[in-house]
Amino acid sequence: MADRRPFIAGNWKMHKTVPESVETARKLVSLVGGVSDADIMIAPTHVALAPVAEALAGSNVALGAQNLFWEREGAYTGEVSAPMLASAGCRYAIIGHSERRQYFGETDEKVNRRIRAALDGGLTPVFCVGESESEREAEKTFSVLDKQVSDGLKGFVADELSSLVLAYEPVWAIGTGKTASSAQAQEVHQFLRGLMAKKLGKDLAQSLRILYGGSVKPDNVAELMAMPDLDGALVGGASLKPEVFSEIVKFKRKQSS
Ligand code: PGA
Repeated sequence: MADRRPFIAGNWKMHKTVPESVETARKLVSLVGGVSDADIMIAPTHVALAPVAEALAGSNVALGAQNLFWEREGAYTGEVSAPMLASAGCRYAIIGHSERRQYFGETDEKVNRRIRAALDGGLTPVFCVGESESEREAEKTFSVLDKQVSDGLKGFVADELSSLVLAYEPVWAIGTGKTASSAQAQEVHQFLRGLMAKKLGKDLAQSLRILYGGSVKPDNVAELMAMPDLDGALVGGASLKPEVFSEIVKFKRKQSS
């Protein structure tokens, strides 16, 4: 297996006030301070980013945004740009999450523009793809993912994407308590790595970190992460409680015990 450093990311979605976010971030830092074998990221709501950045300062927990707009500035009421997020302390931005695709009109073309803007603004995109339950049942999983990846990364060359993180999140497993089995997840991750190799070259595909997301919890993370092409987790519900999320971050200890 290539030497890919595990990446454990928490997506807080639309949860927590500003003081609650700061409190959670502080607690998390105290719980995972000693972890040196994984990259850790949390993505609070936009309004909590700057104060959470302060709480994370000097720690091993990085900050991410849940979305961004592709223009740098201008008359776009309600939107936030990549340079603004970077100035608030973000290093990462989640892009193309299925909830944005489902509720906010996110298309592959918009995802493509956001990935470009994130990279131009100095942020690492965490690019989410995933099939719905009906698409899986109709055996369209691979074709759906092929389209999402191909259109999302249209126009990019490998050199531009060296920092990219890909996240496979089957829509039917998000917030449902239904996790993909480790074999199901591995099958898709292997497919995605092969697809990236075909499109952008073997080197990029080998170093690319592909996260799994969808009902990841302390009691299933070790088994999932044992799969050769799973390089980390994007965690929703179970990232909201620092005690629970820190257990996920420390999954290697479970594997060795
Ligand atoms: P979940 O969400 O862990 O609550 O299933 C995952 C996600 O949407 O990133």
